[in-house]
Amino acid sequence: MRPETALPGELSREIRGLQSVGAITGAGVSKESGIPTYRGKGGLYDDPEKGDQTVDALTATTLAVDPDRTWRVIAELARQSLTAKPNAAHHALVKIEKNVTRFILLTQNVDGLHQLAGTRNIIDIHGNTFDTVCLGCDTRGHLDRSTLTSITRTPVCNSCGGHLRPDVVLFGEILPRDKVEQMRQNFYINPPDLLVIAGTSALFPYILEPIFIARAAGKITVEINPEPTKLSDQVDYSLRGPAGVYLPALAEALLK
Ligand code: OAD
Repeated sequence: MRPETALPGELSREIRGLQSVGAITGAGVSKESGIPTYRGKGGLYDDPEKGDQTVDALTATTLAVDPDRTWRVIAELARQSLTAKPNAAHHALVKIEKNVTRFILLTQNVDGLHQLAGTRNIIDIHGNTFDTVCLGCDTRGHLDRSTLTSITRTPVCNSCGGHLRPDVVLFGEILPRDKVEQMRQNFYINPPDLLVIAGTSALFPYILEPIFIARAAGKITVEINPEPTKLSDQVDYSLRGPAGVYLPALAEALLK
């Protein structure tokens, strides 16, 4: 199947030449880079042996009482993305950004692959496994890949000796206020003309809301996912297949 022919003709005609584009991504977009998703078959949380422990380690409570455990899981996540490279889906979004006047990407992914591919205007709402915040002095830092992937205990701050935490939103934590404000500006106040949501089970209200707002404002909404989700009936077009096929197809139709 040529990517270009994968899109419904009506969708291709409707999006051609649009200059204001938004995208929302989740773990499925990195699947074709070899990084497992969280849920579903082969997903980290659905692993019959370790799934529940992984979820538990990624909670605010575990970070407070047993931060080494949280860090070991963060290191494990980082190991999974250590050799991963951006795939056709990541590159397609970069191509779109370079060729339209307004582009915004909201990603839930903490693997850094969108940034590595070259996406610039990005809200990484769940943070990044490589970034740290000191619980003692609030200093922000960054761990290089080899340090992070070999961590077995909570790292400490070079300035004050306090414990570092991963700059990732854990279960039970609120979203960073500055990023919520960016979301409000880009998706609520001024929704893009085309909003694509790809590779996410779309479980969280703040991931669903931009879609509902865009629809209410008469914008075009598209979902890309091999499986149906609770959003599939709520978007204008539900494309049932991998992001690595459909995002390049969408870019091609848009930029024709
Ligand atoms: P999930 O693991 O919940 O969902 C992944 C989605 O990707 C599923 O709907 C799959 O059907 C779909 N999928 C699989 N392969 C795909 C492909 N090749 N192309 C497109 N889609 C594909 O991941 P998220 O929705 O991202 O939080 O999960 C949301 C958040 O829950 C994550 O950010 C994470 C987790 O707890 C944090 O890390 C803070």
